[in-house]
Amino acid sequence: MTSAHNRVAVLHGVNFDVLERRDPDLYGGLSLSELEVKIQRWARELGLEAIFFQTNAEGEFVEYLHRVRELADAALVNAGAWTHYSRAIGDALAVGGVPAVEVHLSDVESREDWRRVSVFDGLVLEKISGRGPDGYRDALVALADALGVAGER
Ligand code: DQA
Repeated sequence: MTSAHNRVAVLHGVNFDVLERRDPDLYGGLSLSELEVKIQRWARELGLEAIFFQTNAEGEFVEYLHRVRELADAALVNAGAWTHYSRAIGDALAVGGVPAVEVHLSDVESREDWRRVSVFDGLVLEKISGRGPDGYRDALVALADALGVAGER
């Protein structure tokens, strides 16, 4: 079942187009399309509709965030390495003005120190890291709660 205000924009940043070529110990070896299929399945079970975006161009990511509220009711963001230094993307998420959750496949807290820093601090409902693809499901549950969408849990 779907209801109004149930669209979640799922944004992936730099290097996610080659996810299947990145370190499988950190990222699991699956492709972005395979990950997106899982995300869409979980989204529908929860009564949400996911729409997907990926770019390697920081300006395109910023511009998508500027118009995200015209496209979706909430955002799930994995900005990759930009997470740790792009203040422009943090500012753009604030402009976007929709409830958002930050997700990382790997455990950014237990890797290099610089990965502990996030430009989304204080801007997101939750930061989920180190849970692999299942972290996206957890993020969708948090967004469904924020949007008041009641699907299967
Ligand atoms: C990542 C973690 C980032 O530190 C890294 O730069 C990525 C992927 C993750 O999903 O674990 O590109 O966001």
